[in-house]
Amino acid sequence: MIKIAPSILSADFAQLGKEIIDVEKGGADYIHVDVMDGHFVPNMTIGPLIVEAIRPVTELPLDVHLMIENPDQFIPDFAKAGANIISVHAEACTHLHRSIHLIKENGVKAGVVLNPATPVSAIQHIIHDVDLVLLMTVNPGFGGQAFIPAVLPKITRVRELVSETGREIDVEVDGGVNPVTAKQCIEAGANVLVAGSAIYNSPDRGNAIASIRGTV
Ligand code: DX5
Ligand code: ZN
Repeated sequence: MIKIAPSILSADFAQLGKEIIDVEKGGADYIHVDVMDGHFVPNMTIGPLIVEAIRPVTELPLDVHLMIENPDQFIPDFAKAGANIISVHAEACTHLHRSIHLIKENGVKAGVVLNPATPVSAIQHIIHDVDLVLLMTVNPGFGGQAFIPAVLPKITRVRELVSETGREIDVEVDGGVNPVTAKQCIEAGANVLVAGSAIYNSPDRGNAIASIRGTV
């Protein structure tokens, strides 16, 4: 029921394939890929070439988190590269409904992301169209930041909205997730937990994943 999505942002990029296999063996459910453009967030990371390169390494779904301006321009490229889920920020999409449908037209599951300061009402009218809602529990841009507890009531509100649809929609959280904050997020209604530093900074990734899932 609870899925763990290690963020490769905190992995050793010189050995990215090995780092992905390591968390797959450790029980990961998704591989979370953080795409940053230096405009929407103050950092630059991964493009479609890297997604294409890691696609044959794992059978796990690639959960691609686009922290970029004008995401419509790159959605087809990430879909072709092998993404299984593509999420766009509500704050980056002037025509959010169009972006969500562009993702689906490319044969990929569609997610919408909210920054900590963006209210849940921003996605009320798109909830029926998405497969995943991602709530940022840090301001996006970097791994290793502290969890923002004020997001917890938003998780519960999104879970209520999802229940009203009667559809299976993932409620994912991202940022500052560790065994303690993971428990709070699960209690609030999240079922997918992204974790970067808490998994990749641990020498035993399987143990870190189990601790976040709450099974050790
Ligand atoms: C933040 C990214 C996160 C990040 C999480 O901008 O979207 O996915 O890698 O890292 P931790 O778990 O270290 O906060
Ligand atoms: Zn992310």
